[in-house]
Amino acid sequence: MKTIESNRNFMKSHFNSSKTPSESDQVKGVSAPSLQIPPKEGNEIISLPSAPIIKYNLYEAMTQRRSLRKYSLTAMHLNELSFILETSCKVQKIVGDNIATFRPAPSGGARHPFETYIVVNNVEGLNSGLYHYLPLTHQLEKLKDHVDAENIVASVNGQKFVTDANVIFYFAVIPYRAEWRYIERAHKVMLLDLGHVGQNICLAAEATQSGACPIASYDQDIADSLFELDGNEAYISYIIPVGKKSQ
Ligand SMILES: Cc1cc2nc3c(=O)[nH]c(=O)nc-3n(C[C@H](O)[C@H](O)[C@H](O)COP(=O)(O)O)c2cc1C
Repeated sequence: MKTIESNRNFMKSHFNSSKTPSESDQVKGVSAPSLQIPPKEGNEIISLPSAPIIKYNLYEAMTQRRSLRKYSLTAMHLNELSFILETSCKVQKIVGDNIATFRPAPSGGARHPFETYIVVNNVEGLNSGLYHYLPLTHQLEKLKDHVDAENIVASVNGQKFVTDANVIFYFAVIPYRAEWRYIERAHKVMLLDLGHVGQNICLAAEATQSGACPIASYDQDIADSLFELDGNEAYISYIIPVGKKSQ
């Protein structure tokens, strides 16, 4: 089948000895795209606790992690949500003129070509609703007060357990952020990048007595429309519900 063949080829290396292709926008002198989608004027901005105190053991988090689909329905604390976002997505350092950012998860060329959206269902200290994470300032931008549970379920192709999660992470890729440097070599790398972020979410969830379940079976159009993404310059690529474990 043609699709299988082209998908197999997509997984191969598209790099050669030159790390940055000479015809890339970066080499042509086009300014680097913004590192984060800026918040919309008038939207509420919530600063996250900056020093969440979470005691955890990395060995235990790594060896005990399992995909969790049954949640205890107890509240997650805002400190815990802040910890999960800090250890997966927060910008720690900007290099040059938006050339790169350093964050807890690695990314090809340090481009980090994604945005983090969350559906908050049950977090003590934070109203339910739809939010956009601002990784440069460790803040949340409130997008909507409410989203119908049916829409959430439809966005994950009927996987009902997701609505019991305390928080659902929706990761959108911003392809141009990586294409600016790597053109057609960027796309495989972006998926590898998201895998790293996903694993940090899973381990951070474990460290807060929660569990995560990575989701690849989702409905593209419904997931994009939840966050009003255009489906071309920005679109959902990975979904991860996180919920508290039963004690
Ligand atoms: C990329 C990816 C996509 C996945 N998609 C789904 C999914 O849509 N629904 C689901 O219930 N589990 C999903 N899973 C979870 C896997 O079923 C799970 O990781 C696997 O069964 C191994 O179990 P463990 O994670 O508990 O070790 C996905 C996992 C990964 C890494």
